[in-house]
Amino acid sequence: MEQNKVQLTIDGRAVTVPAGTKILDACASAGVRVPTLCHLPEVSSNASCGVCVGEVEGAKSLVRSCVQNVSPGMVIRTNSPRVQESRRTIVELLLANHPADCLSCARNGSCELQALAEQLGVRRLPFPRTRKRPAVDDGGYALVRDNDKCILCGRCVAVCKEVQTVSAIDFAGRGIRTRVASFMDRSLANSQCVSCGQCTVVCPTGALTERDETDEVFAQIADPDRVVVVQTAPAIRASLGEALGMKTGSLVTGKMAAALRRLGFDKVFDTQFTADLTIMEEGSELIHRLTNGGKLPMLTSCSPGWVSFIETFYPSLLPHVSSCKSPQQMFGALAKSYWAEKAGVDPSKVTVVSIMPCTAKKFEARRPEMRDAWKWWKEKGKTYGSFYDVDYA
Ligand code: SF4
Ligand code: SF4
Ligand code: FES
Repeated sequence: MEQNKVQLTIDGRAVTVPAGTKILDACASAGVRVPTLCHLPEVSSNASCGVCVGEVEGAKSLVRSCVQNVSPGMVIRTNSPRVQESRRTIVELLLANHPADCLSCARNGSCELQALAEQLGVRRLPFPRTRKRPAVDDGGYALVRDNDKCILCGRCVAVCKEVQTVSAIDFAGRGIRTRVASFMDRSLANSQCVSCGQCTVVCPTGALTERDETDEVFAQIADPDRVVVVQTAPAIRASLGEALGMKTGSLVTGKMAAALRRLGFDKVFDTQFTADLTIMEEGSELIHRLTNGGKLPMLTSCSPGWVSFIETFYPSLLPHVSSCKSPQQMFGALAKSYWAEKAGVDPSKVTVVSIMPCTAKKFEARRPEMRDAWKWWKEKGKTYGSFYDVDYA
């Protein structure tokens, strides 16, 4: 046996892995699937959930396989009655403080807790609720936070801190009052959160979700007085296909445009056009800065999460950020100015909907300065009630 290799037994099978391998990874390499809830490979684990436990021969208690390293000669059982009972009890305890509204939850069908309860055959809820129902934080434009659905796995905290380097949220309180909170328990909208949405991507439950404005969009479509146009970001034509079960990378541009028209959108546009405009504008600005001694290096402004990050954490670098709008906002401004004029449509009756791959776009659409089409018409002597360039993202 090579010195840096470890031989062990997992569920009766001999397995050899590099020294220092976590039991969870050793199991995966042997084709043994161990359930997890709090574990996220890219970030440090706080091993809080206990769902990944295994039974190690000779050990008094069950071990958490996501943080425990293998050792030579280890004999592990990942599915013994003791392990199964422990996992089931953990999930029953989590469900005791979890609202039973799965059917109307945004994560119904993609919730890891729901899937685990099903997989473990949880058929009863023997434990009483111990936690008071916290208020839903839905004051922001981008995200909704429902701590009643939070299982305190810590994934959001780790991603926000270690990947996004924002640290807008952390654990607060003790015992049954433990919660994920922003500074002083403020709403996320009033914290240093940059609306990037990465916490919603890793949250295993419906505790962190993007704000859903589908009903509002359908109401606009149903209103005969509104002209509802939609822009689709370049990423969407691939991610939609993937979300609908097609092979990764499948392009569904035509199907998507046809489906949007059938849903009732009056016009379907491609944000690619204004992405090109952004590149041209940024290129011109860079040349202008190079030839006239402007601030260099110049940083792109096309991501609202990135812009918000610089505004919040590095305000002294703002002069380096390009003054160009993002493709989404360029489209909104053009749709309600140039396009409305060409099409002979009242711009105040145009609703612009964006289908985007990023929650920060929702926040960007509601920035108070994003009303350039309205300002443009005002300069031309047309006074409409104030409107945003983009209405829904
Ligand atoms: S949206 Fe981004 S910045 Fe805000 S809490 Fe989530 S991960 Fe942190
Ligand atoms: S909000 Fe979601 S990701 Fe964050 S600790 Fe709660 S369950 Fe985990
Ligand atoms: S996945 Fe290992 S403790 Fe949560």
